[in-house]
Amino acid sequence: MCPILEARSMNKKVILAEDNELHILKDVNLDIENGEFVSVMGPSGSGKSTLLYNASGMDRISSGSVRFKNQEIGTMKEEDLAKLRLKHMGFIFQDINLLKNLSVIDNVMFPALIEKGTDKEAVHQKAKKLLEITGIEKLADNQITQASGGQLQRVGICRALINDPDIIFGDEPTGALDSKSTEEIMSLLSDINKKGTTIMLVTHDAKVAAKTERVLFMVDGNIVAQKKMQKHDAEHDDIKEREESIMKWLVENGF
Ligand SMILES: Nc1ncnc2c1ncn2[C@@H]1O[C@H](COP(=O)(O)OP(=O)(O)OP(=O)(O)O)[C@@H](O)[C@H]1O
Ligand SMILES: [Mg+2]
Repeated sequence: MCPILEARSMNKKVILAEDNELHILKDVNLDIENGEFVSVMGPSGSGKSTLLYNASGMDRISSGSVRFKNQEIGTMKEEDLAKLRLKHMGFIFQDINLLKNLSVIDNVMFPALIEKGTDKEAVHQKAKKLLEITGIEKLADNQITQASGGQLQRVGICRALINDPDIIFGDEPTGALDSKSTEEIMSLLSDINKKGTTIMLVTHDAKVAAKTERVLFMVDGNIVAQKKMQKHDAEHDDIKEREESIMKWLVENGF
């Protein structure tokens, strides 16, 4: 396997006041292999979201290097970086920013229509297919405001997938969902990962981390431990056992 994402000595500092600087990421190294399913856990304020945003080029590191598919993105021009994100990355958040004045299917199609000269009909067909896969095809022409939390999260996943990304970044994508919807979204993400898409998720939920194959533990701006597992196999694995072993590992590491 080869890394899709390789970050070295990532530092993120923000200036709060003239003589008050906050050092959020402290010399973080991160390697994500192509096809991996990785989760990031850690106390609130430890820098998980900051790690995700800086590793994905949504935000800029203060120093260090971030290589995505062998290209340095830490210093890439904003315009090129925006194109690269659009083409190769998908994002899912807890509060998904869907466009309220567009229908469900138009929201899903949106990232694919930004590039000029796109075949709109082909995009429409693909969006329909994604809505089918995620089980919300009936909502295609509904307004976004009519969808439930779990349905909105599915729309967000479809939108993240419309450009066939190499990697999906998720910041607590199931954070606002009940346990049933969480399970459904996670098995959807597992399927997507098994088809080859790399996934990196921030989560507070050991049940969610149990569906991934490597858990990173962050404390105070650093990755202080990691737990490697096998890819989750829904048919043969005891998910409860995986969850418990993650909980135990977190406690051992001082969470
Ligand atoms: N743009 C910013 N300006 C000032 N402080 C920031 C900024 N971004 C993050 N922080 C601070 O950096 C620290 C890490 O924030 P971050 O959001 O990455 O934590 P987190 O691990 O994702 O927390 P949570 O689990 O609560 O989402 C926090 O103390 C936060 O207040
Ligand atoms: Mg966060």
